Amino acid sequence: MSSRPKKFVRVAEPYVGEEEVRAVAEVILSGRYVQGPKVEEFEEKFASYIGTKHAIAVNSGTAALHIALAAAGIGPGDEVIVPALTFFATVEAVLHQNAIPVFADIDPETCNIDPDDIRRRITDRTKAIIPVHLYGQPADMDPIMEVAEEHGLLVIEDCAQAHGAEYKGKKVGSIGHVGCWSFYATKNMTTGEGGMITTNDDEIAEKARLVRNHGMVSRDDHVVLGYNYRMNELQAALGIVQLSRLDKLNEIRAKNSYYLIENLEDVVWLRPTKILPYVKHAFFWAPFRVLEDKLGMSTKELVALLREKGVEVRHRYNAPLYKQLVLIRKAAYPRGCPFSCPFYGRDIDYSGIHLPGAEQVAGKMIGLPNHPKLTREDLDYVIEVIKSIKPAS
Ligand SMILES: Cc1ncc(COP(=O)(O)O)c(C=O)c1O
Repeated sequence: MSSRPKKFVRVAEPYVGEEEVRAVAEVILSGRYVQGPKVEEFEEKFASYIGTKHAIAVNSGTAALHIALAAAGIGPGDEVIVPALTFFATVEAVLHQNAIPVFADIDPETCNIDPDDIRRRITDRTKAIIPVHLYGQPADMDPIMEVAEEHGLLVIEDCAQAHGAEYKGKKVGSIGHVGCWSFYATKNMTTGEGGMITTNDDEIAEKARLVRNHGMVSRDDHVVLGYNYRMNELQAALGIVQLSRLDKLNEIRAKNSYYLIENLEDVVWLRPTKILPYVKHAFFWAPFRVLEDKLGMSTKELVALLREKGVEVRHRYNAPLYKQLVLIRKAAYPRGCPFSCPFYGRDIDYSGIHLPGAEQVAGKMIGLPNHPKLTREDLDYVIEVIKSIKPAS
């Protein structure tokens, strides 16, 4: 029988304090809840932080991706290249625009999209690439921008996991044509739920603002197909305070993550993801790959054992996205759209896809606790527990 662990270290906790409480309370008492001055202030501050001309606040990261694709005119018959390992929202947004997600492999060392494989996936239907800065590390943007430029493709950075991350001194979200952000509860900064679009493109920004709000130009005039993807004032008030804390909290995340990496160096069954020398990692996760052969147990078993011993870890993504049933069954819009669509006029069969990089690491990535509320004692406990698990031989 297993005994109770001496402590339980959680993998994620939002960092909020009195300032957030006051900011949100002020909005509640003001009686103005729908997108207004707080949203505008949050947008201005976020754009200035990222270094883009525009920031458009929305109510989730998924909405941000959907709006970005809609605003850029991506639609039926278009192909969009996405990484095989990411959260499904990246793919979902493409499907909602009635476009076709085409998977590129990842580099198993960094877990980010492989620019060489992007090149191999380009067809005459390709319109956009969505690199994801997975677990907080920027994707290798230079070669991605290069291939995009060569083929006239739009680059939408999925920055949902990389608030504050930098690539060669530039903030992610300002490198591609559009950046999409999530402020989901566990992210480096949160608005509970929420999202943002960043861009320097005036046209995309204008269209994104319309799509966010029912395609309305005035109270009774709808000029494009839109949605209600608005952020509210309470979320924005929270976001403004969270943004002001971001750099400081990211520093702590980085310090905690490097402490784990250094102290777990001699654990033969655990390997940190490779960090490119020219990036500033946001450490949404402290990502490690489990070498199951050396450990002698599955990652799933390890995750359960760690929990039993009082260490909660993240464990995603457990399969390359082309294995998701929604794609295998082509269960999107009625009558087979977007897959069987006269505008597409081709057949895509996800069941035959095998991308070795993604298949090598899927199911074997864990994120160790690294959030800013952890004490040195918590981190040492994580290290002690991991070191207590002996390899197979
Ligand atoms: C890589 C990635 N893209 C998109 C999203 C979607 O963001 P949201 O949950 O705010 O809709 C997430 C959310 O976790 C994500 O991790």
